[in-house]
Order: sequence, then structure tokens, then C-alpha cells
Amino acid sequence: MAIDPRAAAIKKNLEKFDAFVAVMSSKGGVGKTFSVAILAYILANNYDVSVSLLDMDLTNPTLHMVLGLDMKSVKIEEEKGIRPFKVSAKMELMTMAYFVQESSIPLRGKEIENAVREILSITKWNGNILLVDMPPGFSDSHLEFLRLFTLSKTLIILVTTPQLLALKSVEKLAISLLQERAPVAGIMGNMCMDVSEDEKIRKTATQLNLDYLGCIPYIAGIENYYGSRLAEIIHRIEPSIKKAVEVIVKRGKR
Ligand SMILES: Nc1ncnc2c1ncn2[C@@H]1O[C@H](COP(=O)(O)OP(=O)(O)OP(=O)(O)O)[C@@H](O)[C@H]1O
Ligand SMILES: [Mg+2]
Repeated sequence: MAIDPRAAAIKKNLEKFDAFVAVMSSKGGVGKTFSVAILAYILANNYDVSVSLLDMDLTNPTLHMVLGLDMKSVKIEEEKGIRPFKVSAKMELMTMAYFVQESSIPLRGKEIENAVREILSITKWNGNILLVDMPPGFSDSHLEFLRLFTLSKTLIILVTTPQLLALKSVEKLAISLLQERAPVAGIMGNMCMDVSEDEKIRKTATQLNLDYLGCIPYIAGIENYYGSRLAEIIHRIEPSIKKAVEVIVKRGKR
């Protein structure tokens, strides 16, 4: 295999982080992106950590929308590499959305590998915990993530809703990841309507011998709170996912 000259730059750019947290699910639309935004918000505002965010959904990046960033009006800073966008005092974001704007680019395996490596080799981060929003499934981006990131610093949080199909999907993904010896931290739920839904997810986690990290409640009219208004719903979410926040903070302190 040819040597990739970007490998050294990627290593250098990532070695400053204390922890990498990847949020994954096999099933689309279960709330990975929203969960990443909420976890970042809680960590940056309530803990002594500085959060960097990476949207690894290269063909359909959406994290910037939940965070309320308009890609047309932000400008990237370049100085021997590029600086992520400042979201708030202790939060920054790097996303393909800036480069592709409104268009959607189809990417094959090798192109995904290239795009991921390119972004990671030029981005100069400032945070100490990197949260990664993954596309749905388990394919090129995920394998690239597992290959490039130091696994001893990595935590994978699996997200599911309480619906049967989502639970079955997360179960399969957990088994595949555990077979690969990937560092799965546990399962976090999203869109729980009541305690019985919470229990369904807890049961799945227990059967897999994984920690249950709590469930974000279903929030009606959620889109109205994207951006700066996330602050208004945090108090309704934070108590439910204390465990998820704690495992990240604990890993970040190592
Ligand atoms: N707790 C919640 N309550 C209500 N709606 C939610 C909640 N979490 C997410 N949503 C909504 O569900 C939809 C899917 O959420 P999101 O985009 O975060 O999922 P995703 O897993 O990242 O999707 P994809 O697989 O496409 O990346 C969005 O419209 C989002 O606003
Ligand atoms: Mg998403």
C-alpha cells in the first residue's frame, strides 16, 4: 500500500485531543445529529471542557443547521490549515457543508476515505474533546474513523429510538462493533415518550451487556429550538442523559 503523506498531519492534528466521541446508529433519522448537538451544548456550558465537533456525514451534513450556523455567511479562517467555525466560546465545528454548500455530492468508498483524510489533515482544532456526528449505517466513513482515531481515547455512543426496527438495528450494529473490538461506551435513547419506552431501550442495552446512557425525551416542535434556542430545552433533556455526559467527561479527563 502506498504511504499517504497526510497520515502524519492527521496524527499531529488529532493528538491534542483527550477524547474522541463518535455517535452512531445503523438506522437513519434516529437523532444522532440532534444528540451530538445536545451533548456538545451540555459539555461546553456545564463542564470544564472545550468541544470540537466534526460532521462526518459527508453527503448529507446537517449538524450546522441544528447549531444554527448559516454556511453562506460563515467564513473559514486559513493559516497553515483551516480553523473550524466558532459556534460559541467553547464550541467549534468542521463540516463538509461549507465546501459543498447546498449541493449533495455522491461519494464512492475511495472518495469518502480521501475526503475524510483531507479534512482531518488540514483542520487545526482548539478543543480537547472531539464529538463526531456519523452518517447512518456501518460503512466507509465508520471504518475510516476506526482506522484513523486512537481507539484508546475513543468512545462510541450508539443511538436508537424505542421503535422495534431501530432497536433491532442498534442490536446488530453493537454486535458488529463489539466483534471488531471497537470501544462501545453504551446505548443512548432518543425520542422517548414515557417510562415504558425508556425501559425498552434499557432492556436492549442490558441484553447486549452494554451501559444504558439514558434517553432524550420526545420534544414537540423541536425545529423551533435549533440554534441559540437550544438553551430553552436543555433543562428538559439534561437530567435524562446524565450518564452519557458523565462517561464522556470521565474519558476526557484521562
Ligand atoms: N428528541 C426529539 N424529539 C423530537 N424530534 C426529534 C428529536 N430528536 C431528533 N428529532 C427530529 O428527528 C429528525 C431526525 O433527527 P436527526 O437528523 O438528528 O437524526 P439522525 O440520526 O442524525 O439522521 P441521519 O441518519 O439522517 O443522519 C429531525 O427532524 C429532528 O429534528
Ligand atoms: Mg445525522
